Amino acid sequence: MGAQVPSSNPRFHGRRRGRRLRPGREALLDTLLPAVELALPPEGAAFDPAALFGRPVREVWLEIGFGNGEHLAWQAQHHGDVGFIGAEPYRNGVARLLAHIADSNIDNIRIVPDDVRPLLDRLPAAALGRVFILFPDPWPKARHHKRRLVSQATLDRLAYVMADGAELRLATDDADYLAWMLRVALAHPDFEWLARRPDDWRCRPGDWPPTRYEEKNRSGGAGPVFLRFCRKPRI
Ligand SMILES: C[S@@+](CC[C@H](N)C(=O)[O-])C[C@H]1O[C@@H](n2cnc3c(N)ncnc32)[C@H](O)[C@@H]1O
Repeated sequence: MGAQVPSSNPRFHGRRRGRRLRPGREALLDTLLPAVELALPPEGAAFDPAALFGRPVREVWLEIGFGNGEHLAWQAQHHGDVGFIGAEPYRNGVARLLAHIADSNIDNIRIVPDDVRPLLDRLPAAALGRVFILFPDPWPKARHHKRRLVSQATLDRLAYVMADGAELRLATDDADYLAWMLRVALAHPDFEWLARRPDDWRCRPGDWPPTRYEEKNRSGGAGPVFLRFCRKPRI
């Protein structure tokens, strides 16, 4: 199944809180979140993420940094036989996803309202069928590049927790982060870029709805780029 890789550094640099939440959203954090929160097992304990959903699921997919959760909610509604895990430390975003879950009666999402890395350190080998990291913070200053979520350490960990043939989807509208992502991912021995022609990364795939960040930034920047990688089969 591949060797264990060292745990990643769990220091989180983004924001956890934004504007004061409306009372209805605040209430969801107290009432609904406890029912759908994924409580991390102690390190070393057995952990089967497919068993989190109260019914059989075909695969488990993970969205890292789901923002306001509209993409994750869409995927969950369109793939009812898949179990979804979403990780997001931004409390206001978690509350927005909870509103989607409540409004649409979504039953196949579990939430880690925090940094994803402790979850990645606990997931067993080959546990995930798909991973999304959409418009991660670009951290444009050179001295902050080490904070970028897409890094060799993250890809090492993802290679361990992703199944053979599992898809990794990355998006960005930042030209420098795009070059960085491609450099890191193309150099990684366990991932293969699925693009064969420019439209494969310039055009939105039909099963990839826009995120809030993408919509907000549509007028500026370089335009979104959609990258799909495959976790190569283990030998
Ligand atoms: C620029 S926002 C994009 C949000 C969303 N994906 C979208 O496209 O609208 C990046 C998000 O990644 C989250 N994030 C950053 N580091 C993270 C980490 N280590 N684990 C989970 N989420 C993280 C941030 O809190 C933020 O909400």
